[in-house]
Amino acid sequence: MQTTEILAPDVAGIARAAELLREGRLVAFPTETVYGLGADARNGRAVAGIFEAKGRPRFNPLIVHVTGLEAAVRLIDLPEMALRLARAFWPGPLTLVAPVRADADIAELVTAGLPTLAVRVPAHPLARALLEEFGGPVAAPSANPSGQISPTTAAHVVEALGGAIAAILDGGACPVGLESTILGFDGERTLLLRPGGLAVEEIEQTLGHEIGRDPGDAITSPGQLASHYAPGAGLRLDASRPEPGEAWLGFGLDPEGVAGPSLNLSPDGRLIEAAANLFAHLRALDAMLGGRGTIAVAPVPERGLGLAINDRLARAAAPR
Ligand code: TXA
Ligand code: MG
Repeated sequence: MQTTEILAPDVAGIARAAELLREGRLVAFPTETVYGLGADARNGRAVAGIFEAKGRPRFNPLIVHVTGLEAAVRLIDLPEMALRLARAFWPGPLTLVAPVRADADIAELVTAGLPTLAVRVPAHPLARALLEEFGGPVAAPSANPSGQISPTTAAHVVEALGGAIAAILDGGACPVGLESTILGFDGERTLLLRPGGLAVEEIEQTLGHEIGRDPGDAITSPGQLASHYAPGAGLRLDASRPEPGEAWLGFGLDPEGVAGPSLNLSPDGRLIEAAANLFAHLRALDAMLGGRGTIAVAPVPERGLGLAINDRLARAAAPR
């Protein structure tokens, strides 16, 4: 056990967080998507510490966070298509996977042996300030123990990883609330490796054509393990109402007579609001049920951010 410092979102807090990263320690920090568990991506031991703290399977590669496109192209060879997307959507909730450059100073553990590296430029002002102050690439998966849902507040991180990491930079709630959208590239084709906080429709609009939504085996995100986002309680999806004893996670208008624990992702049926609430609501209902029983979940439309929400729900519902 170690004492986990809770750092304020100010100049002193950012300086301390950067100092700890330089020492090879682990610092959780807010991004616009979810909290990341950061380590110096050049320091293999620091990166190993991430796997240890998360109890994460070794074969799961990490996303490297950098300040901008200039820093990114020093690490990976971005095809033309990827450059266009980077210019359109960075900083923002988009991760690009591309061949790692031979001269990239990145610990091997970061890519888990893959010839490709995932890079993203976060938009959250605190994440940006930390990257600037630190001055190097930061490897950061979501700051949750492996197999649990991603944290969207500093309190979630304290709960799950307090005592196991050096510090948490407290930036309040993450505005997007869903992980980044991950894209890979296969020749001329752009492939969706993980739906996330940037809607596929926006990407397709920028490119002027559709992208591949089924990545196939070759570069399937190892993080797409079936039950990756799993609360203790079971999930029953596309439910019209809760059965007696079940908790209820609604979207839009709730059915009449919901008696047990219940929360609503967005009473107005807004997908952006639903995405921001998803993990926090699952976590809260799971806690109300004591990590047992079943959460009945209302149908969420399969469009825009609904794709990512349904992807996460399906994972959380997968048998385990
Ligand atoms: O929004 C996010 O992306 C957050 C914040 C902290 O940036 N990070 C995040 O990281 O969600 P993580 O480690 O929980 O998920 C990263 C995903 C995993 O599914 C991993 O397998 C995939 O990215 N990934 C990383 N490198 C890859 C690569 N070279 N090829 C394919 N998938 C890769
Ligand atoms: Mg994760």
